[in-house]
Amino acid sequence: MKKVVVVDFGGQYTHLISNRIRTLGVFSEVVSPETFDPLSEKNLVGIIFSGGPHSVLETGHPCINFDLHNCPVPILGLCYGHQLLAQLSGGKVETGGKREYGSAEINITEKSRLFDGLGKSQSVWMSHGDHVSELPAGFRITASSPSLSIAAFESDSGKFFGVQFHPEVSHTPNGLKMLDRFLSICTQTREWTTEARRRQIVEKTKHEAMNRNLLLFLSGGVDSLVALAVCIEAVGKERVFSIHVDTGLMREGESEEIVRHISSLGYSNIELADACNLFLGRLAGIYDPEKKREIIGKTFVDVLNEKIAKYSSGTDWMLVQGTIYPDRIESGGSKSSAKIKTHHNRVPEIEKLIAQGRVLEPLCDLYKDEIRELGRELNLPEKLLQRHPFPGPGLGIRILASASSEAEDGYISEEPELDEICKTFSFKSRILPVKSVGVQGDGRTFLHPAALWCEDSNEFSWQKLGDCAVKIVNSLKTVNRVVFSPFARLDTVRLKASDVNQSRADLLRKVDQLVRSMTEDMSEIWQLPVISLPAVDENNNWIFVIRPVTSTNAMTADFFKMPQNRLREILREAIKIPGVGKILYDITSKPPATIEWE
Ligand code: XMP
Repeated sequence: MKKVVVVDFGGQYTHLISNRIRTLGVFSEVVSPETFDPLSEKNLVGIIFSGGPHSVLETGHPCINFDLHNCPVPILGLCYGHQLLAQLSGGKVETGGKREYGSAEINITEKSRLFDGLGKSQSVWMSHGDHVSELPAGFRITASSPSLSIAAFESDSGKFFGVQFHPEVSHTPNGLKMLDRFLSICTQTREWTTEARRRQIVEKTKHEAMNRNLLLFLSGGVDSLVALAVCIEAVGKERVFSIHVDTGLMREGESEEIVRHISSLGYSNIELADACNLFLGRLAGIYDPEKKREIIGKTFVDVLNEKIAKYSSGTDWMLVQGTIYPDRIESGGSKSSAKIKTHHNRVPEIEKLIAQGRVLEPLCDLYKDEIRELGRELNLPEKLLQRHPFPGPGLGIRILASASSEAEDGYISEEPELDEICKTFSFKSRILPVKSVGVQGDGRTFLHPAALWCEDSNEFSWQKLGDCAVKIVNSLKTVNRVVFSPFARLDTVRLKASDVNQSRADLLRKVDQLVRSMTEDMSEIWQLPVISLPAVDENNNWIFVIRPVTSTNAMTADFFKMPQNRLREILREAIKIPGVGKILYDITSKPPATIEWE
């Protein structure tokens, strides 16, 4: 089968590129730059250089191990790949001055095979610090943006293409068409189909399982559900055993609902294990987000170890995980990629089982949209496939903790540059004393959010808020996320020492349940985390954040622009819950902020 290879320079979207190529009907694989040699590849029709967290100006930056000029197939460079291609061909790359994260407009400046027929002006997704400042000889500019004169290039030879932005993410609306144009330059054949993918995954699962029993921890989310369906299809339901662990960090009534749903599909090898006290006990006094994830992951394994004896007596076994591409890549899955967060299915105990060949991950090469598609092919009910994703560590990563009520040294709530920007949009602003995770230029950030509110108006414009948020994150190196308080000022919000505990989990469950029930009809919302901050208002009532996002695959996301009347109703109801103070609305895209706060 003809294939396009994606050379992985550690970008967060590397696997997404490969996934997009497959969606367009051409088989694609991700390869490492150290070992890839195009001359020894069979059926190779094209190469894509991925983005990455490094700079081509650093010594020892990731580079290819072959001679560009002997390469027999076309090459497309994206972001870091675009800069590397320019540098290796004799162009110049510069750093600083033109950082851009999020949406930008480019103008097609010259006839280009990549942008053929797409229109003069294109919205694209940028996430970079460096940029190409001088083209190699024999190359020409094909697109510019207001802040970048070389946003895209092509070589006169018709062999090399570079774009500073990310055509692979859904936030570049015509990105797929651009990749499609590149594929048409590479090959006339499209032979990789959904059916081919399903067959491959089921066969691979059968092959890896051999005659072993399969144990699956069922969170109730789409991933573990589809993983279960794949396993049943591959080895039959008698050999597949599921355990749902109630961690005390589930949403209201969710554990019982999961068992009910699964049983209604005619599958009965499922056990509900109550481990609430164990999880909450181990999380007491833990404040670091990464530590929390590690503990939750380890506790899952401890519960698993207890259960294994029961399910494996007299037989050999394997653990099935519903790990998907984003989980893998954001845990620092490739050599050059930065670690954004440790997903609970990549903690050391699981790594040990992986090394022993005891872990089966049928979905580890797929994205959320493909997983839903696969679920459909396996006849799972649409209602289950459309459930919002819910992270394995559950509310454990949505209850932020703080060891102290004093903000750390160096924190200041006022920031003149922030005030300056917000003044032009007529918002009041401050920096919040809590911190959250972000992903910028393919690296992890852990920074304070900026918070905005209006002093004198009950009406606001989402467009204006979104523009303001982009401006803030692009200008302030100390901020990776922006929240908005629609109807309440925030100058009295202060940090409060608190960990993950039963009473905070119970309160979060109530707010989460309320928000969920009041947004059920909004099908555009892809996921809606509700986050409990270790912060209170002037009445000592807790601060919460709601983060409705639109997305297709979790690699990028936009904040959802909720109708204002509905938002007003939600907030009015939420603050009636005893203990609830203010509710903030997250208005940041991903990147720069991740969907979850931790
Ligand atoms: P972020 O916050 O990284 O999340 O933008 C991307 C998607 O992954 C989910 N998520 C997790 N899922 N274990 C999981 O199974 C985890 O540790 C984890 N952390 C984040 C998140 O809810 C979103 O859908």
